[in-house]
Amino acid sequence: MKEITITTQFKVFDSVLDLPNDIQELMTQAVEVRKNAYAPYSKFRVGVAILLDNGKIVLGSNQENAAYPSGLCAERVAIFYAGAVYPEAKILKMAITAASDSNQTTAPIPPCGSCRQSIAEYEIKQEIPIEIYFMGEIGAIYKSESLKNLLPFMFDKKFL
Ligand code: THU
Repeated sequence: MKEITITTQFKVFDSVLDLPNDIQELMTQAVEVRKNAYAPYSKFRVGVAILLDNGKIVLGSNQENAAYPSGLCAERVAIFYAGAVYPEAKILKMAITAASDSNQTTAPIPPCGSCRQSIAEYEIKQEIPIEIYFMGEIGAIYKSESLKNLLPFMFDKKFL
């Protein structure tokens, strides 16, 4: 028997003001689009802004459904839109913010497992890493240099 240890790494920014200017701008757009979340069931609003290498910014917010599993997370709304409308573009950066109507979220809120798997597909396809920044409503922002830091030991097409 042997043991394998996989490590991962994030950078931490204490506040939005510490972010590089382009990411501040991206995060501002994520905060703005978070208002468009359709979240009558969870009251948990997520906003996402994606910067593409063609200069376009694609936005998304979570969209819920009375049949709960039919709803979709903000990250997938945004990344599937990017794939649908700009199939040749590469995804450079992604800013994510999540806020609850019932309590203020102060910790960085990472994308869920299904969103990580979906982002992984695009990162592998485009062969360049996607920078991912995520936060709550206020407080620190975590930066992942690549989706790989969020989903070590991922399942991908090489196993098929
Ligand atoms: N949600 C997202 O939009 N992104 C995530 O990564 C986690 C969860 C949404 C789904 C649902 O509308 C609400 O947040 C509560 O789970």
